[in-house]
Amino acid sequence: MYKDHIFGILASLFGKKHGYSIKKLVCDKRFFMNVMSSRPVNDYIGIISKSYMMGNITCGCSVRLWNCEVIALGNVHIGTGTSMNYVKVRQAINDVIIGNYCSIGEGTRILEYNHQFQRLSSYYYKSNIFKENLLEDIQSKGEIVIEDDVWIGNNCIILSGVHIGRGAVIGAGSIVTHNVVPYSINAGNPSRMIKKRFSDSIIDEIEKTKWWDDNPLLLSRKREMFDCFEEKIQHENDN
Ligand SMILES: CC(C)(COP(=O)(O)OP(=O)(O)OC[C@H]1O[C@@H](n2cnc3c(N)ncnc32)[C@H](O)[C@@H]1OP(=O)(O)O)[C@@H](O)C(=O)NCCC(=O)NCCS
Repeated sequence: MYKDHIFGILASLFGKKHGYSIKKLVCDKRFFMNVMSSRPVNDYIGIISKSYMMGNITCGCSVRLWNCEVIALGNVHIGTGTSMNYVKVRQAINDVIIGNYCSIGEGTRILEYNHQFQRLSSYYYKSNIFKENLLEDIQSKGEIVIEDDVWIGNNCIILSGVHIGRGAVIGAGSIVTHNVVPYSINAGNPSRMIKKRFSDSIIDEIEKTKWWDDNPLLLSRKREMFDCFEEKIQHENDN
């Protein structure tokens, strides 16, 4: 709609003051208002480019969204620093929550609802024919939660009711139908754990840092912590 282009342009004009560099955005009033209520973090502006954002979508600081399409009838949250390129999110019934510092690869789809198929037709007949509420035509297995620092490879599908634990990796082309254990590597259709990223002791140490709760400015003062873990993990792999 024409109005959504106007809100996109307004977001481009006023977004900078609120910590975003916004280009070629089409959005509704709800998303525009969310942008207007966010606070900037020095030198770590969020980027929203060539995207279509409709509904109550909130973004943490320093998000990086290129060519994304997020449509929400309810709530979607995209955490601090999270990066998504050519990703589509479809949310209608239960929340979709994406944590901080996640990387979501091209072509991935996050699909929070299904058509109602236990009835005469799976077609949207209540809304399209009888002019009833669209929510009468869909169902969901629950919210989708993607915790912090999750890397989802290209062309994955994440289905409703799934909870992906912190630090997990999802291989390219995977279809995630069940919960994913933190710090595990998963792949396939349906996706299964293929290995763990680290030993339990390293995972415990990482968990104690809670590094994902810091904004990028605070993290930029913690380079030593990142280097130290790199060494520890290298050492563990060598032995
Ligand atoms: C998941 C991934 C990170 C695992 O890498 P890895 O640790 O080197 O894994 P391995 O090559 O040791 O594979 C282990 C097993 O899992 C299988 N496997 C790996 N990735 C797979 C995938 N995406 N789908 C299905 N099976 C996969 C391998 O075939 C192998 O099976 P085998 O033991 O029967 O031979 C990697 O394969 C992957 O999919 N990366 C995503 C790439 C991408 O999307 N990049 C875009 C940038 S955002």
